[in-house]
Amino acid sequence: MKLGTPLSDTAVRVMLLGSGELGKEVAIELQRLGAEVIAVDRYPNAPAMQVAHRSHVIPMTDPQVLNGVIMAEAPHIIVPEIEAIATDVLAGVEAAGMATVIPTARATQLTMNREGIRRLAAEELGLPTSPYAFATSADELAAAAGEIGLPVFVKPVMSSSGKGQSYVEHIDQIAEAWAYAQSGGRVETATVIVEGRINFDFEITLLTVRSREADGTVRTDFCAPIGHRQVKGDYVESWQPQAMTAAALASAQDIAGKVTGALGGLGVFGVELFVKGDEVWFSEVSPRPHDTGLVTLATQTMSEFALHARAILGLPVDASQREIGASAVIYGGMDAQGVAFEGVAEALRVPTADLRLFGKPEAFERRRMGVALARGADTDQARARAREAAGKVRVVTG
Ligand SMILES: Nc1ncnc2c1ncn2[C@@H]1O[C@H](COP(=O)(O)OP(=O)(O)O)[C@@H](O)[C@H]1O
Ligand SMILES: [Mg+2]
Repeated sequence: MKLGTPLSDTAVRVMLLGSGELGKEVAIELQRLGAEVIAVDRYPNAPAMQVAHRSHVIPMTDPQVLNGVIMAEAPHIIVPEIEAIATDVLAGVEAAGMATVIPTARATQLTMNREGIRRLAAEELGLPTSPYAFATSADELAAAAGEIGLPVFVKPVMSSSGKGQSYVEHIDQIAEAWAYAQSGGRVETATVIVEGRINFDFEITLLTVRSREADGTVRTDFCAPIGHRQVKGDYVESWQPQAMTAAALASAQDIAGKVTGALGGLGVFGVELFVKGDEVWFSEVSPRPHDTGLVTLATQTMSEFALHARAILGLPVDASQREIGASAVIYGGMDAQGVAFEGVAEALRVPTADLRLFGKPEAFERRRMGVALARGADTDQARARAREAAGKVRVVTG
């Protein structure tokens, strides 16, 4: 692919569907290579819109409206940043050869539904996963949980970031878990996945990059494993590298290579894995940069966002790690518009600390508003510094 001049006939137009903090970093990397960036989201002034050439505010789940924006902008590349998109439209656009969907339209369809990706991973590819079943009523859920054996995780098949998820330890919590899943799902499909608990030592994100070789073939690179801690389905801190045995790392890369190979296309994938000793289980995969991978802004030669931008433009990548580092999330802590951040200077006085403040127009109690990054001699030191820096930032009104 030739790169051109933005806002001219030679421009390479890239449309981001979803314009959050991950999209913002991808947009910045695309801007650096002279791509024309069109940011789309359902609310105005979303983070990536603030660094794009143009933006559109639309309900991305509405097929007609989404199709209209794609037709009007005629992007060369479409980059989904979130799952809640009318993916049938992407399939149509791809089939008509009008744009390249990253990584592929099918990958966006399979991964937006836990059933699609779980069946692909476990049943087609034979990868190790937690024991699972699907249920479409409270009774089916109770039966499935009984068969798998408590404790189980119950998740709407169409949901992300822990929404509608329950951890069920006693059978009398099943009705509540069913009701909660119905309220937390993205759409009104009643299906839930029931998963047996994997008693892992730790969980990782294995960022996996599919890029083009000089001869046009696709190569796969793995970033160093990222460890992370989740609270209520949301990541609160991550670090790189996560120490693990050579056997577990080999198995993690094997699983990630297989699942990303089956999904196809170009770009970064966030493969979520559970690890216990030498044993590794596939959990889920994002066909795009991963929130826990924000740490790569501090640690890698090329961050996951630079890797994504390069890979989707057909350019070579360098997935190497340069530093040991960590990230710690800064939450809104309140519901308010146009918040301000105090303590930024103090945060940046923590040795090696850096910050990203996402510029979201509205804060919520549990909304991610920024992230602190730090390096260290080991991950314990990096984590302590990132947490310290994040803790110094105070979200205030006016
Ligand atoms: N089967 C499981 N066994 C153990 N922990 C799990 C299991 N499923 C989910 N979890 C925990 O919950 C977190 C969120 O689950 P996940 O399936 O990744 O949902 P989301 O799509 O919302 O990120 C995981 O990162 C892990 O910490
Ligand atoms: Mg997850």
